[in-house]
Amino acid sequence: MQRVDFLDGMRETVARMMHGGVFLNVGGEKPNAMTIGWGWIGYAWGKPVFVVAVRPQRHTHGILCRTGEFTVSVPTSQPLRAELAMAGTRSGRDVDKFAGLGLTARPAQLVGAPIVAECGLHYECRTLLVQEMDGACMSPEVLRTNYPEHDFHTLFFGEIAGCYRTRV
Ligand SMILES: Cc1cc2nc3c(=O)[nH]c(=O)nc-3n(C[C@H](O)[C@H](O)[C@H](O)COP(=O)(O)O)c2cc1C
Repeated sequence: MQRVDFLDGMRETVARMMHGGVFLNVGGEKPNAMTIGWGWIGYAWGKPVFVVAVRPQRHTHGILCRTGEFTVSVPTSQPLRAELAMAGTRSGRDVDKFAGLGLTARPAQLVGAPIVAECGLHYECRTLLVQEMDGACMSPEVLRTNYPEHDFHTLFFGEIAGCYRTRV
């Protein structure tokens, strides 16, 4: 495990989110991973922050609300296309994504959520703010194209407590 500055992996992480996604992982009774394509790395309240956007119908959503912790694992040497597609289409309500589907849960250093062992870059986060998007404040174009069902994403602002690389 090699600690890195949270700014160092930013370009790589955003590029992965734009092209295939990264894994958002939660703990609780049963660890779960879901693919995310939206996320923001920045600075707020004097802390490094990773913001993830999760729709309320995701299994991950309830666990995030309950545990207040998450990790983000970024594919580095292997693209993990099949695993990202699986974690982005199957729900942890129906299937254990860490049991025989190509993903390995490894304990994180600081939080109860696991990291994905097949990934080489990880962020460990503790939630500072949970904020639902407000359709009334949204551009009509964004509202029309993304939220016909009004199932607005919830934003989870997580303090980046740890950022590191692992050997894959
Ligand atoms: C490339 C990709 C990116 C995605 N990005 C997001 C995202 O940012 N937020 C979200 O709520 N769902 C996103 N999804 C959908 C979830 O990953 C998907 O609904 C998943 O099955 C939810 O898993 P869960 O029910 O176990 O939480 C994405 C799916 C894919 C394939």
